[in-house]
Amino acid sequence: MTVARGNPVCHEVLVDSWPNFSIVLTRLRPEEHRDPRDHYTNQLAVFYRDKGALQALLEGTEAVTGERAFQILGMQDGLDQAVQEVASARGLKVETIRYRALMSPEPPQPRRQMPPGLRLAPVSPSHIALLNATWALGGNARSRAFLLGLLRALPSACLLGPRGRPVSWSLLDGQGCLRHGYTVPAWRGRGLTGLLMAALGRELHARRFPIYCAVLPHNTASLHALQAIGFVPQPGTFHMILGTLK
Ligand SMILES: CC(C)(COP(=O)(O)OP(=O)(O)OC[C@H]1O[C@@H](n2cnc3c(N)ncnc32)[C@H](O)[C@@H]1OP(=O)(O)O)[C@@H](O)C(=O)NCCC(=O)NCCS
Repeated sequence: MTVARGNPVCHEVLVDSWPNFSIVLTRLRPEEHRDPRDHYTNQLAVFYRDKGALQALLEGTEAVTGERAFQILGMQDGLDQAVQEVASARGLKVETIRYRALMSPEPPQPRRQMPPGLRLAPVSPSHIALLNATWALGGNARSRAFLLGLLRALPSACLLGPRGRPVSWSLLDGQGCLRHGYTVPAWRGRGLTGLLMAALGRELHARRFPIYCAVLPHNTASLHALQAIGFVPQPGTFHMILGTLK
């Protein structure tokens, strides 16, 4: 849907045949894939109608090679095993992270008022060091560059504290998914997630982007916070399969 709405992050979209396709693959800015160890930028998403088409893609193309790290996103059962088998056979280290997907049909409704002293703003490039340092899957130069790219292409929101430092933020990943939410520990439990999601959700809704997020199943704080403001858990598992060079 984000591709159809202006393709802000510049995905390349590939199909096996058209209009009767069996598989669709998107690749994030393939022309920028210069670093073979950068699994952030080499981001692919897959949807297939039959397993044979997936197998053909994995075995016959350059989507998964032994020379390049990747991340593959998808919601279909069996995707992770199929990728895992091919990537392991090609000498990559493979790990699957399984998320729950939640969607908000309308812009989320905050539960609390804005605390005095905080103000809403877009995330600025000057905040990237903080976002990168606190991102569980980040903390390195590649993730820093990746976050900066997301920020430049997609909407984001943060709440700035009295000294102008972000205390809570949210941004979209390359799939338009809200997967980068964070509140600094001193400000947790005050409903800041709802305030941010309401602001960002209005913007996404106005652009006709889906309002959805991916959350680890044991992240009860996040699951509570999101469902309390209107997000509805979706069936199935959102897989992120990471293949890295040994
Ligand atoms: C998940 C997270 C973003 C929630 O942010 P938040 O601004 O605290 O959100 P809320 O204030 O709406 O509260 C969320 C829930 O946290 C729980 N909570 C309350 N006080 C808390 C505290 N001091 N510390 C941690 N969690 C607390 C509450 O159970 C609350 O849910 P409830 O009110 O329905 O019971 C935040 O905990 C965080 O940054 N965690 C680490 C990174 C992370 O998991 N990000 C989400 C990725 S999907």
